Amino acid sequence: MKVLVVGSGGREHALCWAIAKSSRCTKLYCAPGNPGIAAVAECVEVAPEDLDGVVAFARDHAVDFVVVGPEAPLVAGLGDRLAAAGIAVFGPSQAAAEIEGSKTLMKDLCAKYGIATANYARFDEPDAAKEYIRARGAPIVVKANGLAAGKGVTVCHNVNEAYAAIDHVMTEQTFGTSGDEVVIEQYLEGEEVSFFALVDGARAIPFGACQDHKARDDGDKGPNTGGMGAYSPTPLVSPALEREIMARCILPMAKGLVVEGKPYRGVLFAGLMMTPDGPKVLEYNARFGDPECQVLMARLKSDALEALYACATGRLDRIVVDWRAEAALTVVMAAKGYPGSYEKGTEILGLAEAEEIEGVYVFHAGTRRENGRLLATGGRVLGVTALGATVAEAQRNAYEAVDRIRWPGGFCRRDIGWRAIRRAG
Ligand code: AMP
Ligand code: GLY
Repeated sequence: MKVLVVGSGGREHALCWAIAKSSRCTKLYCAPGNPGIAAVAECVEVAPEDLDGVVAFARDHAVDFVVVGPEAPLVAGLGDRLAAAGIAVFGPSQAAAEIEGSKTLMKDLCAKYGIATANYARFDEPDAAKEYIRARGAPIVVKANGLAAGKGVTVCHNVNEAYAAIDHVMTEQTFGTSGDEVVIEQYLEGEEVSFFALVDGARAIPFGACQDHKARDDGDKGPNTGGMGAYSPTPLVSPALEREIMARCILPMAKGLVVEGKPYRGVLFAGLMMTPDGPKVLEYNARFGDPECQVLMARLKSDALEALYACATGRLDRIVVDWRAEAALTVVMAAKGYPGSYEKGTEILGLAEAEEIEGVYVFHAGTRRENGRLLATGGRVLGVTALGATVAEAQRNAYEAVDRIRWPGGFCRRDIGWRAIRRAG
């Protein structure tokens, strides 16, 4: 099978790394990829947002299967375009991807299909939104309706912060039309879990649960980021809870989307808050998480290509997904300054030494090669991933690898996995 992966981050590096190991993969392309991906796939200069370009490349190179990493091209309709060209695609249609692309649609579907989520109201007018905030008080959560590169959600600890968030999203239109409407919701307290399922219409199978660290600093302090590290499995999700999440949060949405005439195909990523009343859905995403995908691919024992292809072609009933017994943990190394502004072009050394450690893989997220030197180009730059018998051992291995990487321009958290490790005693 000739396969094309779309995207250029750590998630796509992990997908390429896993797919390249499949005996069914005869050729692997990545559009546009990165220097880490170049070690396992042929990188081609096509941007993920260039839907015509991706479809033309796939057709001209007789690609059998396209795996779409990021949400933006899916929300723009890449899945539909590839399907119309007769090319198998892992990733939902534009209509189904709206589950991530529109918070108001997501909330309305949760209400319609009885899925537990935070109480909410939606507004298309700032004064009414502020009036609601005044009546409700803080803490409260303000969300831009549309995609905002992971920056559209503000957890507000007082009402002034919430008014400022409304101004930011609606009045200043920081995220453009994504902020024409907002969802204001009840603040939920608890631990978060990233839950993944492969979905094919009304059928779904679990595909791993992780915990992600969204805050920049140790102790889960500091500003929110795209994710500073992740690990799997999580002690929070027992086999019984996994069944409950499938029954209450995944299958009702999959079946609901079929009823709505928007059957979902691909990975459905539910961001869950574990509350005293059980799991509640914070968001659905139409893609793998980043860095969650890195730990999932490290733990996946089954053939990744077979699993994704079975999902994309409606044959989920024919596969069994096996995971390694070990835990996997990813430490994200980011450029100093991230998630604010940061310097680009600083040099990274020592990756080969880091990867000499058994069970360690360094996934590239924001790197570029220039005259043989590896340079940082993004905010999140590397995902140092390790296996271990326990989360604690995976953590030790990951930080041993981190300490072999020589990159003065970068930083990372030193406590990824702390909740699981504390729980294990
Ligand atoms: P979202 O993109 O909707 O998942 O929101 C991003 C992050 O904001 C989540 O991962 C949570 O940490 C936080 N968040 C979102 N909604 C809520 C909520 N209702 N209560 C508490 N925290 C939330
Ligand atoms: N790490 C969270 C996400 O990918 O949305």
